[in-house]
Amino acid sequence: MKTRSSNRRDFLKSGAGVGGALLVGADSGNAAPNPQSAQPDAAQPAPDDPTKVPGVPARPYGERSRFERILRTPSPQGTSSGTPLQDLTGIITPSSLHFERHHAGVPDIDPRRHRLLIHGMVDRPLILTMDELKRFPSVSRIYFMECSGNGYRRKGGRTVQEAHGLVSCAEWTGVALSLLLSEAGVQQGAGWIVAEGSDAAKMTRSIPLTKAMNDVLVAYGQNGEALRPEQGYPVRLFVPGWEGNICVKWLRRIKVVDQPYMTREETSKYTDLMPDGKARQFTFEMDPKSLITFPSGGQKLPGPGFYEISGLAWSGRGAIRRVEVSVDGGRIWQDARLQSPVLPIAFTRFRFGWKWDGAEVVLQSRCTDEHGDVQPVLEDLVRARGENWGYHFNPIQGWKVSADGSVQNALA
Ligand code: CO
Repeated sequence: MKTRSSNRRDFLKSGAGVGGALLVGADSGNAAPNPQSAQPDAAQPAPDDPTKVPGVPARPYGERSRFERILRTPSPQGTSSGTPLQDLTGIITPSSLHFERHHAGVPDIDPRRHRLLIHGMVDRPLILTMDELKRFPSVSRIYFMECSGNGYRRKGGRTVQEAHGLVSCAEWTGVALSLLLSEAGVQQGAGWIVAEGSDAAKMTRSIPLTKAMNDVLVAYGQNGEALRPEQGYPVRLFVPGWEGNICVKWLRRIKVVDQPYMTREETSKYTDLMPDGKARQFTFEMDPKSLITFPSGGQKLPGPGFYEISGLAWSGRGAIRRVEVSVDGGRIWQDARLQSPVLPIAFTRFRFGWKWDGAEVVLQSRCTDEHGDVQPVLEDLVRARGENWGYHFNPIQGWKVSADGSVQNALA
């Protein structure tokens, strides 16, 4: 602890800020150009002509330009932070901006001391180190993940990020859970697994064995490198298409059992209270949803003319087949262009050319997945589920463009 705090003081004394400063740290006395002093904060102007000034050395671990400022934003309670989807391109969410929801802070885990235990109704219980886990054959797959509370009581969110930021999409690398379970030897009569994290909340969820043996990953990689601590470093469960909460982070234990364990996160939380007073439980799959990310709430169009409407669509049940856009408040719907690749259980980027005449309009998108499931309007969701429910919120989202070009949340 002492070493750590004195390093911390040296770090602060060296004048290093938060932006890419760790590399220079305490030994900044050498003659090489100091990347930190050469990378001033965004308040300082860049050279008028960058061809007349030698550039700075590249940093061993890349950072974005000092002029790029987009951030995850914390929820009002500070227990989650949303992705700035309105500011991102393509379908991959940078690891640094992937949404996160933590329940007792982000644990600090030494991967050399971390173990994954697989036990319960198995013939050969396993205790795996990270090195042992990484010796198994692995796979990489691009999947979205969405908190099932995304949009929860946030109908009034001003921006895409505030209203729907608890969804992201990344490439995940790991070992098929089915392989590890086969290695352990699942016994007759087993029907579920219980997954437990090593955070201070000991996040615990029950998962049917059929899903566990299908496409679940024990993931240690994200976008080509190790998981970020907020995403479960050194290892997490990834349950494709199912609510984010079940993708247990900082995974330390999988117990094979015969029935669900009725943990807090599947009884008092992450259940859907219906109008008749009963609650839907184990609603795992995330429904089809789409969002226009440009133009969207909080943005301002400079004036009439051509714009490319663009957004994201996804479904927990497979690939997106169709996205329609309405530029007249929902009277006429036209097909948007789906950009390749259109992957199952991943973000699909859609685009739609639009000429704005300067009059007030409401822009909306509506997606259909490969099973024919269509994103509903809010009124239909409320009719089916009442007013008390909060999870699995996937209504068609409208953005109102006013005559002055400002864009507001039409659901607010
Ligand atoms: Co649910």
